[in-house]
Amino acid sequence: MNRQDIRRQMRARRRYLTPAQQRQASDGLRVQLYQAREFRRAKSVALYLANDGEISPSRTIEALWQRGVKVCLPVLHPVYRGRLVFIRFDRNSAMKPNRYGILEPVYRHQLAVSVRFLDVIALPLVAFDETGNRLGMGGGYYDRSLAFTRRSGKRPFLIGCAHECQQSKQLPAEPWDIPLNAIATDSRYQPVK
Ligand SMILES: Nc1ncnc2c1ncn2[C@@H]1O[C@H](COP(=O)(O)OP(=O)(O)OP(=O)(O)O)[C@@H](O)[C@H]1O
Ligand SMILES: [Mg+2]
Repeated sequence: MNRQDIRRQMRARRRYLTPAQQRQASDGLRVQLYQAREFRRAKSVALYLANDGEISPSRTIEALWQRGVKVCLPVLHPVYRGRLVFIRFDRNSAMKPNRYGILEPVYRHQLAVSVRFLDVIALPLVAFDETGNRLGMGGGYYDRSLAFTRRSGKRPFLIGCAHECQQSKQLPAEPWDIPLNAIATDSRYQPVK
């Protein structure tokens, strides 16, 4: 199967999950993320709002807020097309849908956190394999925004998040694909490499 076929299959699988399964998965994801030392120690964490059946970090975000951890969400970069900028997210953040219809915090320069200063990024996966290769939705947004990590010393710890049913045997990796440090699902936390 090529990348597009795998994406189609995995997106259909996750959209098929019931609201009850999604709620349970969101709870499970919180438990699994807290297994990671990097996550427990993090002072700033970027996550995302679930879309298209993605496993939802909403329960994790509530837990982080309660502990006073700085939470950020990705926002389409207002200037550099194809890139993300990470914006501080609080209970009362002003939100608006982006051009994919995904809610994001309203961009304000003072609320932007440089990706270099994020301790952990929990990023959504369409598919993953056991060696940490990932497939996203196909926009290349995370790959572009994280390309600097190939050279940089200080880099965020990358945890890919997905439902267990999104694991693939072996994914084809392209030269620009940024590999994950760990995978978290509804029922598992697994460091890679
Ligand atoms: N660092 C980069 N510089 C320029 N173009 C890039 C870079 N990374 C990815 N791209 C482009 O983005 C397109 C989509 O990439 P890919 O199929 O890996 O998406 P993805 O990993 O599923 O998406 P995402 O990173 O948003 O989750 C590719 O055609 C690729 O050319
Ligand atoms: Mg990629």
